[in-house]
Amino acid sequence: MPRNPQISVVIPTYNEAENIAELLASLRSSLEKEGIKDFEIIVVDDNSPDGTWRIVEKMSKEDDRIRLIRRINEKGLASAVLRGIEEARAPYVLIMDADFQHPPEMAPKLVKIAFEKNADVVVASRYVRGGGVEGWNKLRLFISRFATFLAYAAVKESRYTTDPLSGFFVVKKAFVNGRKLKPRGYKILLEIIARDPPWKPRVIDVPYIFRNRKRGKSKLSTNTIIDYLLHLLDLSTITKFAIVGFFGSLVNLGVMDLVMRLSNSYDLGSVMGIETSIISNFIFNDIWTFKKNLKGKVLARLAGYHGSSLGSAVTIYTTMKLLHVFLGLNPLLGQLIGILAGFAVNYLLSSRVIWRW
Ligand code: GDD
Ligand code: MN
Repeated sequence: MPRNPQISVVIPTYNEAENIAELLASLRSSLEKEGIKDFEIIVVDDNSPDGTWRIVEKMSKEDDRIRLIRRINEKGLASAVLRGIEEARAPYVLIMDADFQHPPEMAPKLVKIAFEKNADVVVASRYVRGGGVEGWNKLRLFISRFATFLAYAAVKESRYTTDPLSGFFVVKKAFVNGRKLKPRGYKILLEIIARDPPWKPRVIDVPYIFRNRKRGKSKLSTNTIIDYLLHLLDLSTITKFAIVGFFGSLVNLGVMDLVMRLSNSYDLGSVMGIETSIISNFIFNDIWTFKKNLKGKVLARLAGYHGSSLGSAVTIYTTMKLLHVFLGLNPLLGQLIGILAGFAVNYLLSSRVIWRW
């Protein structure tokens, strides 16, 4: 085994006995043909019932550049990939599938671009000029594009690449070292670029054609979709913030209604509704939305949050009051419209004044 490989290739496998021998041979000759000789190939197999690991074990005895990691007690694509990256000895790691959907002839090209450009991530992309997919119908293409669109909307770091859901990419090992990544679901590239990256990564996209699977079956299931949505939510501060805000509106109206019944004062109801929702929003944003980067004392954050809510609080109360006094609108309905207006004011102020989008 080369003591200092230039590149580690990580291949996760589950029931790929029909593909793996041919893939390893073809990958090896592609790399050698392009002058890349110091490599290691790490196959991470989850004890496949079809004996994929046995084939790899045998090949690793004949070629010490091939390594097998056979996991008995763990399962899952993302965790397999992370395990492979951990074990990798080279400064760059190439991740690819075992089923020929990621053409092995592309491997040397991706690796060379990573070296030459000193990139943090090189993504083989289906969605950049020159890239594409083979044999997908319109529906399958639409689902894939829609999934990418969701990532773009929810997680802004995903916009670094045209194909954040690609499973074929090179990553600089130093970009992953020491990070606490959550190996959830299938979309490990998304996790690597979006989960608190240590620096803004230099990402390069390279077009490729995603081929049909050579033999065997995909391991994707309907669970994968739910898993993907939960993964996005977990990475998406803005979505969490919106969900908290939505429930905060219900708290606001519920408390207002209660106070109006008890005190007969809609002014008091409005103000107490607003204040309670500020506090409940604060609590959920603090323990959920922003829990990973809390700074300072909790009371200081609570005060700061009150400050930043002042504009929308005044908007809600004023809208409610005006609509009720001049148009005779039900105060609860006025408060609801006020909440929507408050949201708009908050968004406009944030986008135009604070972040200047
Ligand atoms: N160790 C391990 N454990 N490997 C797994 C597991 C698992 O639980 N599930 C799948 N694999 C392996 C497969 O054997 C294959 O080599 C690779 O991971 C991809 O699995 P497929 O089932 O073929 O996935 P796909 O073709 O539907 O999706 C692939 O392409 C997409 C588009 O680039 C994956 O690479 C996706 O991540 C990618 O988004
Ligand atoms: Mn596949």
